[in-house]
This record gives sequence, structure tokens and C-alpha cells, in this order.
Amino acid sequence: MDKMRFSYKLTDYLHFARMAARSRRRQCVWGKLYEDSIRNQSFKLPVATVVQLIPTEACNLRCPFCNQWGENGYFFDGVRPVQHMDQESLIKFMRGLSPRDSLISVHGGEPFVYKHIDTLLELLREQQFDVIFTTNGTLLKPRLEQLAKIRNLMFLLSIDGDEPAHDRVRGKGTFKKALDSMAELFDLRRRIGVPLPAVIISSTVCEWTTDTLEKIYDVARDFNALAINYNFRWFLTEDVGKAYERHLEHAFGLKSSGAWRGWTSANHEKHDYSRVAESLSQVMTRKRRFTRPFVFTTPSQLRGSDYKTYFTDYLDTFGAESCFMPFYWARVHANGELIFCPGHPDIIAGNVFRDGFMESFNSDVSIKFRKHILTNRFPICNRCCGLYMTNPARPFEQKARKNLGLPKQVTTHWPEARP
Ligand SMILES: C[S@@+](CC[C@H](N)C(=O)[O-])C[C@H]1O[C@@H](n2cnc3c(N)ncnc32)[C@H](O)[C@@H]1O
Ligand code: SF4
Ligand code: SF4
Repeated sequence: MDKMRFSYKLTDYLHFARMAARSRRRQCVWGKLYEDSIRNQSFKLPVATVVQLIPTEACNLRCPFCNQWGENGYFFDGVRPVQHMDQESLIKFMRGLSPRDSLISVHGGEPFVYKHIDTLLELLREQQFDVIFTTNGTLLKPRLEQLAKIRNLMFLLSIDGDEPAHDRVRGKGTFKKALDSMAELFDLRRRIGVPLPAVIISSTVCEWTTDTLEKIYDVARDFNALAINYNFRWFLTEDVGKAYERHLEHAFGLKSSGAWRGWTSANHEKHDYSRVAESLSQVMTRKRRFTRPFVFTTPSQLRGSDYKTYFTDYLDTFGAESCFMPFYWARVHANGELIFCPGHPDIIAGNVFRDGFMESFNSDVSIKFRKHILTNRFPICNRCCGLYMTNPARPFEQKARKNLGLPKQVTTHWPEARP
């Protein structure tokens, strides 16, 4: 196929700029709602700025670092049953959301394993949501026609190296399936006059990908991707997990599901992370500021030696002190449960199918959580995506905290205070 046919054009960039402006507006509105909810002591917000759907926890792959289906994945421990979201409940739920208020993130498991994915794609098209799919890209092919009709579309496409390296991590043939489907989708959207999707190649920086980090830059070009996200592995240790269990019991009277074990890694202590730092520093030297693929890391504030420190010093949170996820977003699992902490399904705010979305988002549990998290962190928070992926909204949170006279620092509960 002719590669240039798929390149982004000015109209695509303008389309992305409008999506980014809408995101920015939602974050700005959120900052005021956040501040008001604390000032008036209701701790309630009228909208969730990001709604993350887990239409199914099932997945067709078994990536070793994955907290769900990896070597210590919590689905193997039977912490949760694998489910598919009920179709009627999904329809009712989605029609109650507004694209003006909420960005929709579709996650999993693998979202395209969901047995009612056609219904979900139609609902996303119907209201023209701003949508971001996190996907391994292997099951897109039968859904390309529907994906072509979702106008405001972004992909966090999980690619963990060049073809041999990616296939070693994710399985034989997985790279090619993702590449072919994306090329076809670009072609289809061009033909029907819909802007191209914003494709961000997301690579998990970890023990399994250290040797291939530099190659991602060329891979992103093959995919015609807009950007690369070097997504640092979220992790914790046994000590941290146990301290979290004690904290959860003490502060909330809850017993942990044990899902935190999905974030532990046997190889972690032994791995040489200086190579991660070297490789990423090379990429950063090579990348161009104003030319695709744009390169960023999550956490976005990491620079130079931080690429290593991230893995070797659990206490360093690179200036991110407070978590505001319970005020900002809502993750809805296949069974309707609403949680705030990704990968830690322990504090259940409610069930949106049984209790309603706003009732769950502003339940007594949610309010208790929000009050707590305003001045505390859990031991597990230091390497949880929740502390960092909200960075674009961070300036609004910091401004509100300042206006409210709240300190930047919170009580971390790790290391635990010894009597
Ligand atoms: C859990 S997957 C769900 C969506 C889909 N199955 C996929 O792989 O894109 C979401 C993203 O998290 C990444 N991921 C998995 N385990 C991780 C970990 N321990 N730390 C950081 N990212 C991780 C995956 O590579 C993927 O990009
Ligand atoms: S494809 Fe996604 S959900 Fe499935 S095992 Fe890999 S990272 Fe986990
Ligand atoms: S950083 Fe802590 S409070 Fe925030 S989402 Fe993660 S585990 Fe939950």
C-alpha cells in the first residue's frame, strides 16, 4: 500500500486540536467543580470527567507484565470472575452520559473481545463521544466499518517492540494483525472523508521490553502513528501490598481482594534498569520536537536519571503528591461496579446498573474516599497510574488546592510509622 496515502494531513491535525481543546475545557470545568465540592463540603460532583468502561475483563492474549493476565495476573488467582457487560444495561448507562461532560476511555481485558462490541461502537458513534480505546489491535478487523464512523477517535495501541520483540511478548502474528488493521482503518476513513484516528503507540517500559525500546521509534513510523507513549510499568512489592491491606482495613474497614498481587514482579529486583535509562535517553535525543512521532512518557515528568530512579526508588514520586482520581474519573466494570483505583477493585463506590451512575459516583463510599484522599495516599499509590495519568488536569487541581489552603504534601503511610 502507498504509505503517504495514510499520512496525517492538516485537516486531521485541526481535528485533533479541537479534540484537545474539548479535553482542556473539560479539565478546566472540572477544576472549578472540584474546588466547589470541597469548599461546600458536599464532596459531590455533577459529572465524571473521564468514564472508563471495562466492557469485559476477558482477553485473547497473555502479556507477562499484565496485572490482569500476566505472570501474577489477578484473574489467575480467581480474585474476580471474568464477565461481559450486559447489553441492555450498557445502552441505558451510555445514553445517560454526555459527550460534553465526559471523555470515554474503553479498556479491558481486551475491549474487542466483548461480545456486544457492535452495540458499544454504535453507542459511541450515536452521540459522537470523544473516545480513546486501549487495545492490543489484534481483533479490530471485523469492526473496521463501525470504527470508521466514530469521528472523534483515539487509540492507545499497545505495541511492545519491533515485530519479533512484540510477538515474543504478545504472541506470534499479533504485530502484523495490529499493523494491517490500522492501515485498513486509515484507508477506509480517508475514503469516506472522516478524519484519521489519533494513534498513540503505547509501549510498556519494563523487564521484558528493555532491549527494544529504541526500536519503537521506527515502529511508530511504520504505523504512521501520531505519538509514542513510553508507559512505565506500574508495580509494587509484597511489603507495599501488605501495608496497603492494613491501611485499607484501618481507614475503610475493608478487606482487600488481593488484586494488588497482579502488580508484583519476580524479575523486578534483579533487572538492570540503567539500560532502560540509556535507551530512552537515546530516543529523546533522536526525537524531533515538531515532527511525528511525538514522544512522551507516562509519568510525563520523567527526565534523564528518573528513567532509572522510577524503578529503583519507590519513594520518589517526581513531584506528584496527591491523587484526585476519585473526584475526576469513574471506572465501570463489566458487572456495573464503579471503582476509582485502576487495578485495585477494593473500594467499590456502588453499582451503576443497580444504583444508577450519579448515585454511585457520589455515594457515601465515594465521599468517604474523597475526604480521605485529599490528605492521604495509600502505600500502593507511588507506582499507580492514577497518580500520574491525570497530569494534564494536575495544574487545575494544584490551583484549587492552593485556593483552598491545602498543602501540596499528603500523608503517605509508606514507609509505615513504627510504634
Ligand atoms: C491492561 S491493557 C488493556 C487493554 C488491551 N488489552 C491492551 O493490551 O492494550 C492496558 C494497557 O496497560 C498496559 N499494561 C499492562 N500491564 C501493565 C503494567 N504492569 N504496567 C503498566 N502498563 C501495563 C498494556 O500494555 C496496555 O497498553
Ligand atoms: S492484551 Fe492487554 S489485557 Fe490482555 S494480557 Fe496483554 S496487556 Fe493484559
Ligand atoms: S494513586 Fe492511589 S488513590 Fe489514586 S487511583 Fe491509584 S491507588 Fe487509588
